[in-house]
Amino acid sequence: MDKTPPSPTVIEARDLKTHFQARSSLIGALAGRQPRAIRALDGVDLAIRRNEIYGLVGESGSGKSTLGMSLVRMYEPTGGEVHYNGENITHVHGKALKDYRRAAQIIFQDPYSSLNPRLTIGQIIEEPLKIHRIGDAAERQRRVEKALELVRIPAEENLHRYPSDLSGGQRQRVAIARALVLEPQFIVADEPVSMLDVSIQASVLEILDDLSRDLGLAVLYISHDIATVGYICSHVAVMYLGQIVEEGTAEDILTAPQHPYTQRLMAAIPSIVPDENRERVELKGDVPSPLDIPPGCRFSSRCPYATELCTTVEPQLVPTAEAHRVRCHLYDAEAVATHPSLEPPTSQAA
Ligand SMILES: Nc1ncnc2c1ncn2[C@@H]1O[C@H](COP(=O)(O)OP(=O)(O)OP(=O)(O)O)[C@@H](O)[C@H]1O
Ligand code: SF4
Ligand SMILES: [Mg+2]
Repeated sequence: MDKTPPSPTVIEARDLKTHFQARSSLIGALAGRQPRAIRALDGVDLAIRRNEIYGLVGESGSGKSTLGMSLVRMYEPTGGEVHYNGENITHVHGKALKDYRRAAQIIFQDPYSSLNPRLTIGQIIEEPLKIHRIGDAAERQRRVEKALELVRIPAEENLHRYPSDLSGGQRQRVAIARALVLEPQFIVADEPVSMLDVSIQASVLEILDDLSRDLGLAVLYISHDIATVGYICSHVAVMYLGQIVEEGTAEDILTAPQHPYTQRLMAAIPSIVPDENRERVELKGDVPSPLDIPPGCRFSSRCPYATELCTTVEPQLVPTAEAHRVRCHLYDAEAVATHPSLEPPTSQAA
């Protein structure tokens, strides 16, 4: 048995919520109605350790980016807490917020719009050091070169080039170098390869993987694509309408998904359905709006197993194995026992 103690937790979300205010319609405003809340992130718990790449998957609009932005404090959460190295940083301001923003970086999806086209690669990577007033010119130059080396871009030939001189893959590596130059401990990589050619996606993912291991980084890797998370993530969480519906080791999630939603996400990818005899299931319908979250289970409008219990009582995230949690009444004996008059779901129903 592996006796290695687990790495320390770097970042932790506790019941984290970020709600936005919807714009009122003209009629609503004239009638004096209060604007409604868009519950984009609605009670998420997760912990990411040193050296860990934690995958976050889910359909468009499920709240993945809102979670990433809330964790790095680009959004101020509406409720719950974010802890960084054990400290509650949810509402810190001033110097404490500036220090945290140095330690927690985000890399965005689009390497074309995220780099200023008028600055050279050297200037782009140096900029955060200047903003944070780190080092003199020589020290900054040293750090810029080191950051480029980490993303495998030769400094000498590239420092004076412009983003337009680089390929998409190189630009994304420059964006990673710009995040690394501040020596962060936590990085959110929000769909970092989804706009890149499939042929170069793997090389960028390999860099992220090496960085996490070599620098001890905690990484939240956000992706639409449940298949790619399996390559580099140790743990995976699946989001649906602002909540985590399943969480576990990447192996468990990819090979033995338990939540009906995860099963359908997996089945939608033919290459990772190993058993040809396995029943083909489809993900039908759209995700409901976070302005109108349905009562009970948020997935009930699309779930083939849904019963009265599902549409009435909200399921909790319950453990089904040591490192596996699922939010579904199929696995929640307590909810079934507490509501004996409501018909519970069974997996035979679909
Ligand atoms: N700043 C904002 N103001 C209002 N609503 C927002 C804001 N940001 C996100 N939303 C809404 O919150 C919900 C979650 O959005 P989010 O961008 O986090 O989803 P996502 O999972 O990252 O989607 P995608 O895969 O398309 O990037 C969506 O309904 C979105 O319209
Ligand atoms: S709680 Fe019910 S509706 Fe929700 S996923 Fe489970 S079986 Fe489906
Ligand atoms: Mg997003």
